[in-house]
Amino acid sequence: MALAKINPTKTGAWNKLLKHYAEIKSVSMKDWFAVNPNRAQQFTIHWEDFYVDFSKNRIKPETVGLLLELAEDCRLKEAIGKYFSGDIINETEGRAVLHTALRADNESEAKVKGEKVMDEISEVKAKMKSFTTSVIDGIHKGYTGRSFTDIVNIGIGGSDLGPAMVVDALGFYGNHLRTHFVSNVDGDHVHEILKKLNPETTLFIVVSKSFTTQETLSNANTIRKWFLKSADETAIAKHFVAVSTNIDKVKGFGISEENIFPMWDWVGGRFSLWSAVGLSIALSIGFGNFNNLLEGARKMDDHFRNSEFSGNIPVILALLSVWYNNFFEAESEAIIPYSQYLGQFATYLQQAVMESNGKGVDRSGNEIDYQTGTIIWGEPGTNSQHAFFQLIHQGTKLIPADFIGFVHPLHGDREHHDKLMSNFFAQTEALLKGKPDSQVLNELQQNKASDLEIGRLLPFKVFEGNRPTNTILIEKLSPESLGKLIALYEHKIFVQGVIWNIFSFDQFGVELGKELAGKILKEFEKPEFQIHDNSTQNLIDHYRKLTK
Ligand code: F6P
Repeated sequence: MALAKINPTKTGAWNKLLKHYAEIKSVSMKDWFAVNPNRAQQFTIHWEDFYVDFSKNRIKPETVGLLLELAEDCRLKEAIGKYFSGDIINETEGRAVLHTALRADNESEAKVKGEKVMDEISEVKAKMKSFTTSVIDGIHKGYTGRSFTDIVNIGIGGSDLGPAMVVDALGFYGNHLRTHFVSNVDGDHVHEILKKLNPETTLFIVVSKSFTTQETLSNANTIRKWFLKSADETAIAKHFVAVSTNIDKVKGFGISEENIFPMWDWVGGRFSLWSAVGLSIALSIGFGNFNNLLEGARKMDDHFRNSEFSGNIPVILALLSVWYNNFFEAESEAIIPYSQYLGQFATYLQQAVMESNGKGVDRSGNEIDYQTGTIIWGEPGTNSQHAFFQLIHQGTKLIPADFIGFVHPLHGDREHHDKLMSNFFAQTEALLKGKPDSQVLNELQQNKASDLEIGRLLPFKVFEGNRPTNTILIEKLSPESLGKLIALYEHKIFVQGVIWNIFSFDQFGVELGKELAGKILKEFEKPEFQIHDNSTQNLIDHYRKLTK
């Protein structure tokens, strides 16, 4: 059964939200805090090791009530049921969306087109476990009998970003294997990485759901050639494995069937790190830790499926995002983890969020006249405070931000961690409260500034505040808590797609550029007469002139 096709702007809740927005758009959050000493408690969800405070938002209880009504009007509950039961909700590609089955327990009844999927999933997991354990334990060896020291994941998009982010995020739990990621078709990327590697002790994982992606196949071929300078063809079997749905193409590349880890078309690339696409993760942290990552995601799945919407973290964060995107007309959202380990988290989310919800046509095929996909960006604090926070504090744009922090540091350095976390709390407070004229005046007077100086400087030192943030405070960064965090954002994406009445699980928008690149590549060899627009043609001609 497909998802309902409901234009959110035609619902009763949307109209009420429009009126409500007009009433509260200029109210200061500080005023609400002043009259309600329990505001923080009222707008906090404490679930397992997650403490999510969303009180620093431009909302009052009535706002949340109306947003929940919007979820109801858009039949969110029914949509969640379809998502988890393997209905064909990716209608434009005729596919189910069942990455949640990858982390479900074995008793799950998950089915695709009437067929149970848990047995196949367990089989692949068992294969992953035995393979990763034998590589980590040095039993599976390279062609000269030496154990592996380095792993290279060759993939792009969902076949790169998720594993790369998780391997980095869980570096603390890593073993002796060094893991590298080659993604860009830019030859300088692959050659820089090859410089660091010894073919005798390196294992290559070619990850491509389709096994037709130009970047991945080019890199895999370049690496294969490099490898064969030291080894012969028979060594390929020991050093190359693949993850793909396209078994024939993988075999055509020269990787034998027993070295292929299958995946399925009901797992979207950007949601695939839980499948064999996560082989590099399981190699770098061990299969036990990989399982804990899945376990965390499963717990978040249960929370999302079973909690009342009013206490449901992905639902609340998604509705708040709709509130800013569609009523306050905010264009982007910042993700600021206060952990260096999460340095790639925003980059990873950029694909998950923007490839999913960057759509301008609704589920009935009509052009949309309201805003959809938010722009996601961010970097870890405190570095980002010294980079772009000026704009978040005093710029002209409203940028809702998620602050993600951990109570315990992994290396136990409490002194550093307290400094880090004092910044974490201070920034959301500063964004809420700002600094009014009176306070700036007072400070300038105390510094003995002249009246002339005060008049000149005062406006520049005022912070208007009232800038919204969510605080996601987690006890400790671990495979399990990271699994929960990633699944939280996956479900937030789903909820927003349901509300916006779009298809979140296709990505036709990335095709056009790929097609044109294919044509242009041929023209470098054999130019065609003026087939492009004047600008593109001129640039190609200039490039050709300089590369002859
Ligand atoms: O960027 C488009 C895309 O299809 C992504 O959705 C996907 O994650 C990526 O390319 C890689 O695709 P594949 O795994 O098939 O090589």
